[in-house]
Order: sequence, then structure tokens, then C-alpha cells
Amino acid sequence: LRTSLKVHTSLHTSAGTNVVAAREEGARKDVTDEKDGHKSLYALQAERQGQAERSVLISYHSRINEKKFLKYLSRHGDINKYFFYESYGIYAVVEFGSRDSVASLLEETAIPSVNHEAMVPFKSRLLSLKNLGSADSPNQQSGPQCQPQTTVPINQLIQTLSKEGSIDQQVTSLTEAYQLTEENSRLRFLVCSLLKDIAAAYFPECTVRPFGSSVNGFGKLGCDLDMILDLDGISGRKTKMFMHQQIPDLIFADMPKQEPEFLTVQVDAASLLTFNSTVHLIPRSGLSLEYQLKRANSERSATQSILSVIGECVDQFGPGCVGVQKILNARCPLLRFAHQPSGFQCDLTANNRVAIKSTELLYLYGELDPRVRHLVFTVRCWARTHGITSSIPGAWISNFSLTVMVLFFLQRRSPPIIPTLDHLKDLAGPADKSVIEGNDCTFVSDFSKIQLESNTETLEQLLHEFFEFYATFPFSKMSINIRKGKEQNKPEVAPLHIQNPFEISLNVSKNVNATQLERFVALCQESSWLLQQSETSTPREPLFNCTTHGCLIGAWHRITSNQSLRASATVVVCTFFFSLDSREATSIQHQPDQAP
Ligand code: GTP
Ligand code: MG
Repeated sequence: LRTSLKVHTSLHTSAGTNVVAAREEGARKDVTDEKDGHKSLYALQAERQGQAERSVLISYHSRINEKKFLKYLSRHGDINKYFFYESYGIYAVVEFGSRDSVASLLEETAIPSVNHEAMVPFKSRLLSLKNLGSADSPNQQSGPQCQPQTTVPINQLIQTLSKEGSIDQQVTSLTEAYQLTEENSRLRFLVCSLLKDIAAAYFPECTVRPFGSSVNGFGKLGCDLDMILDLDGISGRKTKMFMHQQIPDLIFADMPKQEPEFLTVQVDAASLLTFNSTVHLIPRSGLSLEYQLKRANSERSATQSILSVIGECVDQFGPGCVGVQKILNARCPLLRFAHQPSGFQCDLTANNRVAIKSTELLYLYGELDPRVRHLVFTVRCWARTHGITSSIPGAWISNFSLTVMVLFFLQRRSPPIIPTLDHLKDLAGPADKSVIEGNDCTFVSDFSKIQLESNTETLEQLLHEFFEFYATFPFSKMSINIRKGKEQNKPEVAPLHIQNPFEISLNVSKNVNATQLERFVALCQESSWLLQQSETSTPREPLFNCTTHGCLIGAWHRITSNQSLRASATVVVCTFFFSLDSREATSIQHQPDQAP
């Protein structure tokens, strides 16, 4: 994919491109924050956001001539990157060198007129190109090459994996096939940017940022797009705060007692949260913004009101946004909708700073050792294939919980592959301090401070050990705790207890019932056993031959005939992708999307 993108880029390299590159470089300087060869999530996001703001999404006629299409757009300025993809129609993502080019292009657009329907003239960067006059060449039958935005079908994946020579290679290959591509990541940021344009009608300085698997390094093509509406730079470096009474006395200790009620205080986000650093006071103007005085009963009800109006706006005027649901009574209120042009299922939340910290933490763990991402991708894929996880909310283990379980397992290796969260906290510097609603979310962001131990276990060993570890884990008594890196006594009755890394009184797997946990444990036992068979047999053919497959089917029969598991009669997915011969794969029934 990268190769073809490069070819595309070189197609439109012109004298102006260097200027653009230099300008970009300059703009990037203040956000590039690369430590020990790792780009920080903050730097990565800032770069992607910049690209998204200079981009447009164009739906077009499939027989369009690519060169003429680009020539037509280049009249508005240099094009940095572009790619095509297919969703509900054919689309092009085009990133210009500057936002002025986007403005120039929008100047030229016309609002379509449709008989018998009234139009809401909401101008967005989602455009539709009907024809280019002479540019549309009738003899060009095939359109430009489209970049895939969804994962390969499971059968195709199995065929690819069965050609690999070892489980280690299969795991690597699986990650490569499933992980988000450069283009898909750009598209996710572009959708956030388009959403921001809508929300900006109410909150002009807002930002919409992705979080969760879209950016934490564990995202699979086709995963949902989790977004946060950021009204005051909560995850940025600077924020402004107005209410005097919200700042503790400590900060104002050296100031006269009778302060006017409203002060403008510019404060570093980290200091704001910990209240222990120097705060720079900006001279008081005596003016404050009226809208900030309109108080809600609680932060939660403020979030609900904000999401409610944005939801109306998205529903009524959001181009391409369909099926908007306001889920405002959830623990974390959200808007859920489908963005049709990108094909993304979107969740938009607000005031969800802890989720941003979780995203940063998962990103950091994924960057520390490549085995982390490989194992998470493999376990997630295994779980989905067996119906242990599902896209439908319910009593099953979530991908987030599963990821935390993998992290915990990697902390328990000897020597550990990744450090505990408490250790990452100890390494934190003053700028890393973060306390959100009383929860200490501090951990180091500078990768170079983290010393890893030299564990040389292979992916195959780790996968086997993962299954073994959870096949025998004392779930009835112990809680999984990545802060301590050691199991703790369960603080409450729940079949599966995984301590929330930042809101430590919460259990991230509270929804999981006993049946689902039993299924997970049983499948870990079976999978561990299967891998053991492949380890002990020489030569290592059983990985792909019928014997292993036979064992697998046998294992499946044992699962479905087990009294306690009979309730889960929909365990029809018997594919264990490490064990299948590609020719047999097609004869197996797959229901990866079925809820357990
Ligand atoms: P997929 O969408 O399944 O690919 O994974 P995801 O990691 O994006 O999970 P999901 O969309 O369910 O949640 C998005 C993010 O919200 C996660 O990455 C976490 O950062 C956070 N999150 C989800 N569930 C929980 C939870 O139970 N507790 C906490 N603290 N955070 C959660
Ligand atoms: Mg998600």
C-alpha cells in the first residue's frame, strides 16, 4: 500500500511540492516530539490533524480519468497526497498543501438543486464530482486503483497464514493484514475533522479527536471510530480557565484577598490538573464570556446537553451521517451514528479525559515491544473468530478488557516484557502529572526513560503461555491489575474482575457473566492444548494437517457437549486459524460477526 501511495505522490510532484514540504516541516517542528525513535501520540495526532484539515473527501464517477481529476484539483493549489477507496460509491481523499486551496475549491462548488426537495445549504468538505466535461473519457473503463478500507475475509486470511512457515510468521502476517493502513488512519482523522466543522457551528474553537483503537496502535481495519469532542483543549498543552473559585487557594496564596469574581488564568494543562505548578496570570480585563456562565447541575448534565444539540445538528445537517442515536444515559454519554462515505461506525463522546489517558497508555505499551501489538492482534482475532467478543454490547468480554488481559500477562512473564503502570508512574516527570476527577492518571511519556528487561520469548511461546495462563488463572478469587502487575484479591463479586487502570474502584469487565468467562477459559484450555500438540510433534506439520484439524473438531465437540457450555450453543465457529489447511478452510462454517 505504501509503495503505491508513493507512486501516486510522485505522480504529482512538481516544483511547488518542495515548498509545501518545507512549509509542512516548519509547521511540524513544534509538534514533533520523537524520543528514542518513538513518536509520541500527541505528535502523531497533531500531524494527522493538520493533514485532515487540509483535506477534502470527494465522491466521484467511477470512470473518471485520474490524471485529469488531479489536474482539475491542482488549479486550487499543490496536492500533497491523495488516494481512492470504495465505500458506498467511489471516493477520493485529497490533501492539499494548504487550507487556502481547500477554501478556493469550496468557492467553486455549487449547491445541487433537486426537484421537490428543499436543500439545507450546509457547506462541508464532503464534495461530489459529477463530471469533468472532457476529462471524463468514455473509453476508460476502469477507474483509479482503490485502497482497501476493510479487512480481508477470514477465508483469505487463513489461506495467507497457512502459507507461512511458523506460528511466529503467522502472527506477524496476521497483524500486517489487520492493522490500520496509512490511508485508513488519514480517513479517520478526516472524518473527525468533518465532524468538527459541524460542531464548530456551536463551539467555534472545538476539536474532535479520535481515541481508542483508531489511534492506540491496536486498531483493526473496520473497527469503530471513537471520537471525543474537545471544547477547551483538554488533551492539548494549553487551556484557559476562568472561574476564580475553581482554582484552589494555594495558587492565589500571594494575591490580594478580594479578587473580582472572574479572572483569566492561562495554565498548563498538567498544572491545571495537579494544582502544584506555577500559574501565569494574564491581566484581568474584567470581561468574561457569557456562555461560560451558563451552568449545568453537573458536568454530566452539561455533557448531555452538549451532545444533545450536536446530535441534532449531526442528524439534521451532517452530510453523510445517518442513523444518529443519542445514548445520553450511558455511564459515558455518547452519540452513535454511521458515517456513510467512510463506512465508519462512529461514537462521539465529550468530557472523556480518562479514555484519552487509556488510549495514551495502550499506545505506549504497544510501542515498547513489537510483541505486544502482535499478541493483542492475535488474541483479539482468536477471540472474535470464536465469538468470545462481539461488536454488539453484551455480557461478553470487550476488546478493551482483552487487551488489558494481554498486557497483564506480558507483565507476568519472567522477566517481564512490559513494566507495571506503577513503575511508569514512578518514571513520570512533572509535565506528565495528570489528575482527572480525583484519579491519578500520571505515567511517563518519555520512552527513553523506560528500561526494558531482556525477555527473548518467541510469539509462539507467548501465545501458548497466554492460553495456559488464563486456562488456569484463579478468576474466582483474584483480580487482574496492570497497575501492580500482579493479581490482587477481588474487591467485589464479579465473575471477571479487571481493575480499571485509572479509575481504580471500577471493574472494566463488570458486564461479563459467568457463562462467557467459562467459555473463555474453556477455549484457552483447548487452544493451549492445540499449541502443545504442534510443539511436541516433529516435524512441525501438524500445524496445518488434518490431525490437528481433527483434534480441533474434537475439541469443539467437547465444548458443545459440556453441560455448562451448552447454553452457548452458538459456538459454531470452529476455526482455529493456526491449525487449518487452506483447502479445508472453505468447508468450515464461519460466523465471526455473530454475537455469542
Ligand atoms: P475496538 O473498538 O473494539 O477496536 O477497541 P477499542 O479499544 O476502541 O474499544 P472501545 O471502542 O470499546 O472503547 C474505546 C476506548 O474507550 C478504549 O480504547 C478505552 O480507552 C476506553 N474504554 C472502553 N471501555 C472501557 C472501560 O470499560 N473502562 C475504561 N476505563 N475505558 C474504556
Ligand atoms: Mg473503538
